[in-house]
Amino acid sequence: MIIGTPLTGNTTKALLLGSGELGKELAICLQRYGVEVIAVDRYAHAPAHAVAHRSYVIDMTDAAAVKALIAQEQPTFIIPEIEAIATAALAEIEADGLCTVVPNARAIQLTMNREGIRSLAAQQLGLPTSRYAFAESFEALQAAVDEGIGYPCFIKPTMSSSGKGQSMVKSAAELAAAWHYAKSSGRVDTGKVIVEAKIDFDFEITLLTVRALNTQGQVDTYFCEPIGHVQEYGDYRQSWQPQAMSAAALARAQEIALTITSAIGGLGLFGVELFVDGDQVWFSEVSPRPHDTGMVTMVTQRQNEFELHARAILGLPVDASLQQAGASAVILGGVDAQGVGYQGLAHALAVPGSEVRLFGKPEAFVNRRMGVALASADSVDAALGLACQAASLVSVTPP
Ligand SMILES: Nc1ncnc2c1ncn2[C@@H]1O[C@H](COP(=O)(O)OP(=O)(O)OP(=O)(O)O)[C@@H](O)[C@H]1O
Ligand SMILES: [Mg+2]
Repeated sequence: MIIGTPLTGNTTKALLLGSGELGKELAICLQRYGVEVIAVDRYAHAPAHAVAHRSYVIDMTDAAAVKALIAQEQPTFIIPEIEAIATAALAEIEADGLCTVVPNARAIQLTMNREGIRSLAAQQLGLPTSRYAFAESFEALQAAVDEGIGYPCFIKPTMSSSGKGQSMVKSAAELAAAWHYAKSSGRVDTGKVIVEAKIDFDFEITLLTVRALNTQGQVDTYFCEPIGHVQEYGDYRQSWQPQAMSAAALARAQEIALTITSAIGGLGLFGVELFVDGDQVWFSEVSPRPHDTGMVTMVTQRQNEFELHARAILGLPVDASLQQAGASAVILGGVDAQGVGYQGLAHALAVPGSEVRLFGKPEAFVNRRMGVALASADSVDAALGLACQAASLVSVTPP
Protein backbone atom coordinates (compact mmCIF):
# COMPACT_ATOMS: atom_id res chain seq x y z
CA MET A 1 0.00 0.00 0.00
CA ILE A 2 0.97 3.66 -0.34
CA ILE A 3 1.27 5.59 2.91
CA GLY A 4 0.37 9.26 2.54
CA THR A 5 1.33 12.37 4.46
CA PRO A 6 -0.47 13.12 7.71
CA LEU A 7 -2.71 16.18 7.93
CA THR A 8 -2.92 16.57 4.15
CA GLY A 9 -5.58 15.53 1.66
CA ASN A 10 -3.41 12.48 1.00
CA THR A 11 -3.24 10.96 4.46
CA THR A 12 -3.32 7.42 5.86
CA LYS A 13 -5.41 7.59 9.02
CA ALA A 14 -5.70 5.13 11.87
CA LEU A 15 -8.49 5.59 14.38
CA LEU A 16 -7.80 3.81 17.67
CA LEU A 17 -10.91 2.80 19.60
CA GLY A 18 -9.39 2.56 23.07
CA SER A 19 -6.32 4.56 24.04
CA GLY A 20 -4.71 2.69 26.91
CA GLU A 21 -1.07 1.72 27.34
CA LEU A 22 -1.26 -0.82 24.53
CA GLY A 23 -2.80 1.76 22.21
CA LYS A 24 -0.08 4.22 23.16
CA GLU A 25 2.70 1.89 22.03
CA LEU A 26 0.77 1.06 18.86
CA ALA A 27 0.25 4.77 18.14
CA ILE A 28 4.00 5.37 18.45
CA CYS A 29 4.71 2.56 15.98
CA LEU A 30 2.16 3.93 13.49
CA GLN A 31 3.54 7.45 13.90
CA ARG A 32 6.97 6.15 12.89
CA TYR A 33 5.54 5.26 9.47
CA GLY A 34 3.90 8.65 9.09
CA VAL A 35 0.38 7.40 9.75
CA GLU A 36 -2.06 10.00 11.07
CA VAL A 37 -3.23 8.71 14.44
CA ILE A 38 -6.56 9.56 16.07
CA ALA A 39 -6.95 8.26 19.60
CA VAL A 40 -10.39 7.72 21.15
CA ASP A 41 -11.26 6.79 24.70
CA ARG A 42 -14.03 7.22 27.24
CA TYR A 43 -11.95 9.63 29.34
CA ALA A 44 -9.63 12.56 28.65
CA HIS A 45 -5.84 12.27 28.75
CA ALA A 46 -5.79 8.51 28.23
CA PRO A 47 -2.27 7.18 27.49
CA ALA A 48 -2.53 7.12 23.67
CA HIS A 49 -4.06 10.62 23.62
CA ALA A 50 -0.60 11.90 24.51
CA VAL A 51 1.00 10.61 21.31
CA ALA A 52 -1.80 11.03 18.74
CA HIS A 53 -2.42 13.76 16.18
CA ARG A 54 -5.91 14.22 17.61
CA SER A 55 -7.93 12.72 20.36
CA TYR A 56 -11.58 12.35 21.24
CA VAL A 57 -13.57 11.39 24.29
CA ILE A 58 -16.75 9.49 23.43
CA ASP A 59 -18.84 6.61 24.75
CA MET A 60 -17.56 3.84 22.49
CA THR A 61 -20.53 1.62 23.31
CA ASP A 62 -22.82 4.26 21.75
CA ALA A 63 -23.27 3.22 18.11
CA ALA A 64 -24.45 6.67 17.02
CA ALA A 65 -21.42 8.36 18.60
CA VAL A 66 -19.01 5.86 17.02
CA LYS A 67 -20.60 6.22 13.58
CA ALA A 68 -20.65 10.02 13.77
CA LEU A 69 -16.96 10.19 14.63
CA ILE A 70 -16.04 7.77 11.86
CA ALA A 71 -18.10 9.77 9.36
CA GLN A 72 -16.29 12.92 10.47
CA GLU A 73 -12.77 11.47 10.42
CA GLN A 74 -13.07 8.96 7.55
CA PRO A 75 -10.14 6.85 8.72
CA THR A 76 -8.32 4.34 6.54
CA PHE A 77 -8.15 1.88 9.46
CA ILE A 78 -10.27 1.45 12.58
CA ILE A 79 -8.22 -0.33 15.23
CA PRO A 80 -10.13 -1.52 18.30
CA GLU A 81 -7.98 -1.76 21.41
CA ILE A 82 -10.71 -2.72 23.86
CA GLU A 83 -13.71 -5.04 23.87
CA ALA A 84 -16.43 -2.62 25.03
CA ILE A 85 -17.34 -1.20 21.62
CA ALA A 86 -20.57 -0.83 19.66
CA THR A 87 -19.60 -3.65 17.32
CA ALA A 88 -22.77 -3.49 15.20
CA ALA A 89 -21.68 -0.01 14.10
CA LEU A 90 -18.31 -1.44 13.01
CA ALA A 91 -20.04 -4.15 11.00
CA GLU A 92 -22.11 -1.52 9.16
CA ILE A 93 -19.06 0.60 8.42
CA GLU A 94 -17.16 -2.42 7.14
CA ALA A 95 -20.10 -3.40 4.94
CA ASP A 96 -20.06 0.09 3.41
CA GLY A 97 -16.48 -0.65 2.35
CA LEU A 98 -15.26 2.78 3.40
CA CYS A 99 -12.50 1.62 5.71
CA THR A 100 -10.81 -1.45 7.15
CA VAL A 101 -11.79 -2.64 10.61
CA VAL A 102 -8.76 -4.42 12.11
CA PRO A 103 -8.64 -7.37 11.77
CA ASN A 104 -12.34 -7.37 10.72
CA ALA A 105 -15.72 -6.52 12.25
CA ARG A 106 -16.68 -10.15 12.81
CA ALA A 107 -13.53 -10.72 14.89
CA ILE A 108 -14.44 -7.82 17.14
CA GLN A 109 -18.00 -9.11 17.48
CA LEU A 110 -16.96 -12.69 18.16
CA THR A 111 -14.36 -11.88 20.79
CA MET A 112 -16.32 -9.30 22.75
CA ASN A 113 -18.73 -12.02 23.85
CA ARG A 114 -17.37 -15.24 25.35
CA GLU A 115 -20.28 -17.12 23.81
CA GLY A 116 -19.27 -16.15 20.27
CA ILE A 117 -15.63 -17.11 20.48
CA ARG A 118 -16.20 -20.23 22.60
CA SER A 119 -18.82 -21.57 20.20
CA LEU A 120 -16.54 -20.95 17.22
CA ALA A 121 -13.54 -22.59 18.90
CA ALA A 122 -15.19 -25.58 20.52
CA GLN A 123 -18.19 -26.38 18.34
CA GLN A 124 -17.26 -25.23 14.86
CA LEU A 125 -13.50 -25.77 14.94
CA GLY A 126 -13.39 -28.64 17.43
CA LEU A 127 -10.57 -27.12 19.45
CA PRO A 128 -9.95 -28.50 22.94
CA THR A 129 -11.38 -26.22 25.65
CA SER A 130 -12.50 -26.63 29.24
CA ARG A 131 -15.92 -28.24 29.67
CA TYR A 132 -18.36 -25.33 29.63
CA ALA A 133 -22.00 -24.29 29.57
CA PHE A 134 -23.95 -21.05 29.34
CA ALA A 135 -26.64 -20.33 31.90
CA GLU A 136 -29.41 -17.75 31.94
CA SER A 137 -30.68 -18.49 35.44
CA PHE A 138 -29.25 -19.71 38.72
CA GLU A 139 -31.20 -22.96 38.34
CA ALA A 140 -29.70 -23.57 34.90
CA LEU A 141 -26.23 -22.83 36.28
CA GLN A 142 -26.73 -25.25 39.16
CA ALA A 143 -27.96 -27.93 36.76
CA ALA A 144 -24.97 -27.45 34.39
CA VAL A 145 -22.53 -27.83 37.26
CA ASP A 146 -24.34 -30.86 38.72
CA GLU A 147 -24.70 -32.55 35.34
CA GLY A 148 -21.09 -32.49 34.25
CA ILE A 149 -19.03 -29.34 34.79
CA GLY A 150 -18.41 -30.16 38.47
CA TYR A 151 -16.22 -28.35 40.99
CA PRO A 152 -13.95 -26.44 40.98
CA CYS A 153 -15.26 -24.25 38.19
CA PHE A 154 -15.10 -20.67 36.96
CA ILE A 155 -18.19 -18.47 36.60
CA LYS A 156 -17.73 -15.47 34.26
CA PRO A 157 -20.01 -12.86 32.73
CA THR A 158 -20.20 -13.48 28.97
CA MET A 159 -19.11 -9.89 28.38
CA SER A 160 -16.23 -8.89 30.61
CA SER A 161 -12.47 -8.64 30.60
CA SER A 162 -9.61 -8.34 33.08
CA GLY A 163 -11.30 -10.82 35.38
CA LYS A 164 -14.27 -8.57 36.15
CA GLY A 165 -17.21 -10.45 37.61
CA GLN A 166 -15.26 -13.70 37.46
CA SER A 167 -14.89 -16.14 40.33
CA MET A 168 -13.67 -19.65 41.00
CA VAL A 169 -16.18 -21.79 42.84
CA LYS A 170 -14.98 -24.77 44.90
CA SER A 171 -18.28 -26.04 46.26
CA ALA A 172 -22.06 -25.77 45.91
CA ALA A 173 -22.19 -23.37 48.85
CA GLU A 174 -20.30 -20.71 46.86
CA LEU A 175 -22.31 -20.97 43.65
CA ALA A 176 -25.06 -18.43 44.42
CA ALA A 177 -22.58 -15.69 45.33
CA ALA A 178 -20.63 -16.32 42.12
CA TRP A 179 -23.85 -16.15 40.07
CA HIS A 180 -24.81 -12.78 41.57
CA TYR A 181 -21.28 -11.42 41.22
CA ALA A 182 -21.13 -12.40 37.53
CA LYS A 183 -24.60 -10.98 36.85
CA SER A 184 -23.84 -7.64 38.48
CA SER A 185 -20.23 -7.01 37.42
CA GLY A 186 -20.11 -7.74 33.70
CA ARG A 187 -19.58 -4.91 31.25
CA VAL A 188 -23.04 -5.48 29.87
CA ASP A 189 -25.58 -7.82 31.47
CA THR A 190 -26.26 -10.20 28.60
CA GLY A 191 -28.44 -12.20 30.99
CA LYS A 192 -26.00 -15.07 30.62
CA VAL A 193 -22.92 -16.39 32.34
CA ILE A 194 -20.45 -19.02 31.22
CA VAL A 195 -19.40 -21.73 33.62
CA GLU A 196 -16.14 -23.53 32.85
CA ALA A 197 -14.56 -26.52 34.52
CA LYS A 198 -11.20 -25.60 36.02
CA ILE A 199 -8.29 -26.87 33.95
CA ASP A 200 -5.40 -28.09 36.06
CA PHE A 201 -2.61 -26.64 33.97
CA ASP A 202 1.17 -26.61 34.54
CA PHE A 203 1.30 -23.09 33.13
CA GLU A 204 -0.62 -20.77 30.82
CA ILE A 205 0.74 -18.95 27.79
CA THR A 206 -0.08 -16.21 25.36
CA LEU A 207 0.94 -17.23 21.86
CA LEU A 208 1.25 -14.02 19.88
CA THR A 209 0.23 -14.93 16.33
CA VAL A 210 0.55 -12.59 13.38
CA ARG A 211 -1.36 -12.70 10.12
CA ALA A 212 0.68 -10.58 7.73
CA LEU A 213 1.46 -10.38 4.04
CA ASN A 214 4.59 -12.15 2.83
CA THR A 215 6.78 -10.86 0.03
CA GLN A 216 4.46 -12.52 -2.51
CA GLY A 217 1.55 -10.52 -1.13
CA GLN A 218 -0.14 -13.57 0.43
CA VAL A 219 -1.27 -13.90 4.02
CA ASP A 220 1.13 -15.94 6.15
CA THR A 221 0.92 -16.83 9.83
CA TYR A 222 3.89 -16.11 12.09
CA PHE A 223 4.33 -17.12 15.74
CA CYS A 224 6.27 -15.38 18.47
CA GLU A 225 7.96 -17.53 21.11
CA PRO A 226 5.41 -18.42 23.81
CA ILE A 227 4.90 -15.97 26.67
CA GLY A 228 4.34 -17.38 30.16
CA HIS A 229 2.42 -15.34 32.71
CA VAL A 230 0.95 -15.18 36.18
CA GLN A 231 -2.59 -13.91 36.72
CA GLU A 232 -4.06 -12.59 39.95
CA TYR A 233 -7.75 -11.72 40.26
CA GLY A 234 -8.05 -12.25 36.50
CA ASP A 235 -5.36 -9.68 35.66
CA TYR A 236 -1.79 -10.32 34.69
CA ARG A 237 1.03 -9.49 37.09
CA GLN A 238 4.20 -10.86 35.47
CA SER A 239 5.03 -12.29 32.07
CA TRP A 240 8.15 -13.75 30.51
CA GLN A 241 9.37 -14.98 27.14
CA PRO A 242 10.23 -17.62 26.08
CA GLN A 243 8.16 -19.99 28.23
CA ALA A 244 9.88 -23.39 28.13
CA MET A 245 7.57 -26.13 26.87
CA SER A 246 7.81 -29.50 25.15
CA ALA A 247 8.19 -29.56 21.38
CA ALA A 248 4.90 -31.47 21.16
CA ALA A 249 3.03 -28.89 23.24
CA LEU A 250 4.50 -26.02 21.23
CA ALA A 251 3.48 -27.65 17.95
CA ARG A 252 -0.04 -28.23 19.31
CA ALA A 253 -0.24 -24.63 20.57
CA GLN A 254 0.75 -23.31 17.15
CA GLU A 255 -1.74 -25.61 15.46
CA ILE A 256 -4.57 -24.31 17.69
CA ALA A 257 -3.47 -20.69 17.16
CA LEU A 258 -3.33 -21.20 13.39
CA THR A 259 -6.80 -22.74 13.37
CA ILE A 260 -8.49 -20.01 15.40
CA THR A 261 -6.74 -17.06 13.72
CA SER A 262 -7.37 -18.47 10.22
CA ALA A 263 -11.05 -18.80 11.10
CA ILE A 264 -11.12 -15.19 12.27
CA GLY A 265 -9.16 -13.86 9.29
CA GLY A 266 -7.94 -10.35 8.50
CA LEU A 267 -4.48 -8.90 9.03
CA GLY A 268 -2.94 -8.14 12.42
CA LEU A 269 -1.57 -9.60 15.61
CA PHE A 270 -3.59 -11.86 17.90
CA GLY A 271 -2.99 -12.93 21.50
CA VAL A 272 -4.01 -16.58 21.74
CA GLU A 273 -4.45 -17.63 25.39
CA LEU A 274 -3.73 -21.30 26.02
CA PHE A 275 -3.44 -23.62 29.04
CA VAL A 276 -0.67 -26.24 28.99
CA ASP A 277 -0.29 -29.49 30.94
CA GLY A 278 2.61 -31.63 29.71
CA ASP A 279 2.00 -32.18 26.00
CA GLN A 280 -1.68 -31.28 26.30
CA VAL A 281 -2.94 -27.82 25.28
CA TRP A 282 -6.36 -26.16 25.70
CA PHE A 283 -7.68 -23.06 23.99
CA SER A 284 -8.95 -20.43 26.44
CA GLU A 285 -9.60 -17.21 24.50
CA VAL A 286 -8.10 -14.89 21.88
CA SER A 287 -7.66 -11.14 21.55
CA PRO A 288 -7.61 -9.81 17.96
CA ARG A 289 -5.02 -7.20 19.02
CA PRO A 290 -1.86 -6.82 21.11
CA HIS A 291 -2.08 -8.48 24.52
CA ASP A 292 -1.12 -7.03 27.88
CA THR A 293 1.17 -9.98 28.69
CA GLY A 294 2.92 -9.25 25.37
CA MET A 295 4.38 -6.00 26.70
CA VAL A 296 7.42 -8.15 27.47
CA THR A 297 8.21 -8.15 23.74
CA MET A 298 9.32 -4.52 24.11
CA VAL A 299 12.61 -5.95 25.46
CA THR A 300 12.72 -9.40 23.84
CA GLN A 301 11.97 -8.90 20.17
CA ARG A 302 13.40 -6.61 17.54
CA GLN A 303 9.81 -6.14 16.35
CA ASN A 304 7.63 -6.03 19.44
CA GLU A 305 3.92 -6.90 19.39
CA PHE A 306 2.93 -3.31 18.58
CA GLU A 307 5.37 -3.05 15.69
CA LEU A 308 4.14 -6.42 14.42
CA HIS A 309 0.51 -5.27 14.61
CA ALA A 310 1.31 -1.97 12.85
CA ARG A 311 3.25 -3.70 10.09
CA ALA A 312 0.63 -6.39 9.58
CA ILE A 313 -2.15 -3.78 9.33
CA LEU A 314 -0.16 -1.75 6.80
CA GLY A 315 0.55 -4.84 4.69
CA LEU A 316 4.27 -4.75 5.51
CA PRO A 317 6.53 -7.77 6.15
CA VAL A 318 7.11 -8.95 9.73
CA ASP A 319 9.79 -10.77 11.71
CA ALA A 320 8.39 -12.34 14.89
CA SER A 321 11.68 -13.77 16.11
CA LEU A 322 13.01 -13.53 19.65
CA GLN A 323 16.28 -11.74 20.34
CA GLN A 324 16.77 -12.35 24.05
CA ALA A 325 14.98 -13.67 27.11
CA GLY A 326 12.99 -11.13 29.07
CA ALA A 327 10.24 -10.48 31.56
CA SER A 328 7.71 -7.84 32.58
CA ALA A 329 6.24 -6.97 35.98
CA VAL A 330 3.33 -4.58 36.38
CA ILE A 331 3.38 -1.46 38.53
CA LEU A 332 -0.02 -1.09 40.22
CA GLY A 333 -1.50 2.13 41.60
CA GLY A 334 -1.68 0.91 45.19
CA VAL A 335 -3.76 4.01 45.99
CA ASP A 336 -6.95 5.66 44.78
CA ALA A 337 -5.81 9.17 43.79
CA GLN A 338 -5.53 11.63 40.91
CA GLY A 339 -2.29 13.19 39.73
CA VAL A 340 -0.04 10.71 41.53
CA GLY A 341 3.77 10.83 41.69
CA TYR A 342 6.24 8.06 40.89
CA GLN A 343 9.14 7.59 43.27
CA GLY A 344 12.20 5.41 42.92
CA LEU A 345 12.53 5.49 39.14
CA ALA A 346 16.28 6.10 39.37
CA HIS A 347 16.70 3.00 41.55
CA ALA A 348 14.51 0.93 39.26
CA LEU A 349 16.48 1.94 36.18
CA ALA A 350 19.74 1.13 37.96
CA VAL A 351 18.69 -2.54 37.90
CA PRO A 352 20.78 -4.12 35.11
CA GLY A 353 18.94 -4.69 31.85
CA SER A 354 15.80 -2.91 33.05
CA GLU A 355 13.41 -0.48 31.41
CA VAL A 356 10.30 1.17 32.85
CA ARG A 357 7.22 2.52 31.10
CA LEU A 358 4.94 4.88 33.04
CA PHE A 359 1.61 5.24 31.30
CA GLY A 360 0.75 8.74 32.58
CA LYS A 361 -2.84 7.85 33.50
CA PRO A 362 -4.61 10.80 35.14
CA GLU A 363 -6.07 8.71 37.94
CA ALA A 364 -4.69 5.80 39.96
CA PHE A 365 -6.73 3.01 41.56
CA VAL A 366 -5.37 0.40 43.93
CA ASN A 367 -5.37 -2.33 41.28
CA ARG A 368 -4.99 -0.16 38.19
CA ARG A 369 -1.93 -0.78 36.02
CA MET A 370 0.02 2.50 36.02
CA GLY A 371 3.28 1.26 34.54
CA VAL A 372 5.37 -1.77 33.74
CA ALA A 373 8.95 -2.77 34.48
CA LEU A 374 10.78 -4.78 31.83
CA ALA A 375 14.11 -6.57 31.93
CA SER A 376 16.15 -8.71 29.60
CA ALA A 377 18.83 -11.16 30.74
CA ASP A 378 20.56 -14.43 29.81
CA SER A 379 17.71 -16.49 31.20
CA VAL A 380 14.00 -16.03 31.82
CA ASP A 381 14.51 -16.64 35.57
CA ALA A 382 17.11 -13.91 35.80
CA ALA A 383 14.99 -11.52 33.73
CA LEU A 384 11.92 -12.16 35.88
CA GLY A 385 13.90 -11.46 39.06
CA LEU A 386 15.20 -8.20 37.61
CA ALA A 387 11.80 -7.06 36.30
CA CYS A 388 10.16 -7.75 39.68
CA GLN A 389 12.96 -5.94 41.46
CA ALA A 390 12.65 -2.91 39.19
CA ALA A 391 8.84 -2.85 39.59
CA SER A 392 9.12 -3.06 43.38
CA LEU A 393 11.43 -0.03 43.44
CA VAL A 394 8.82 2.24 41.88
CA SER A 395 6.22 3.51 44.31
CA VAL A 396 3.10 5.46 43.46
CA THR A 397 2.34 8.30 45.87
CA PRO A 398 -0.64 10.62 46.18
CA PRO A 399 0.15 14.25 45.24
N1 LIG B 1 -11.33 -22.84 32.92
C1 LIG B 1 -10.26 -22.35 33.55
N2 LIG B 1 -9.39 -23.20 34.15
C2 LIG B 1 -8.31 -22.73 34.81
N3 LIG B 1 -8.01 -21.41 34.93
C3 LIG B 1 -8.85 -20.53 34.37
C4 LIG B 1 -10.00 -20.95 33.65
N4 LIG B 1 -10.63 -19.84 33.21
C5 LIG B 1 -9.91 -18.79 33.63
N5 LIG B 1 -8.83 -19.18 34.33
C6 LIG B 1 -7.81 -18.31 34.92
O1 LIG B 1 -8.31 -16.97 35.00
C7 LIG B 1 -7.60 -16.11 34.10
C8 LIG B 1 -8.53 -15.09 33.46
O2 LIG B 1 -9.52 -15.76 32.72
P1 LIG B 1 -10.02 -15.20 31.31
O3 LIG B 1 -8.85 -14.98 30.44
O4 LIG B 1 -11.10 -16.06 30.82
O5 LIG B 1 -10.67 -13.83 31.82
P2 LIG B 1 -10.62 -12.38 31.24
O6 LIG B 1 -11.52 -11.58 32.11
O7 LIG B 1 -10.89 -12.43 29.80
O8 LIG B 1 -9.17 -11.91 31.50
P3 LIG B 1 -8.24 -11.02 30.54
O9 LIG B 1 -9.13 -9.99 29.90
O10 LIG B 1 -7.25 -10.45 31.50
O11 LIG B 1 -7.61 -11.97 29.57
C9 LIG B 1 -6.93 -17.04 33.11
O12 LIG B 1 -5.81 -16.45 32.51
C10 LIG B 1 -6.59 -18.23 34.03
O13 LIG B 1 -5.47 -17.92 34.83
MG1 LIG C 1 -7.84 -13.84 29.40
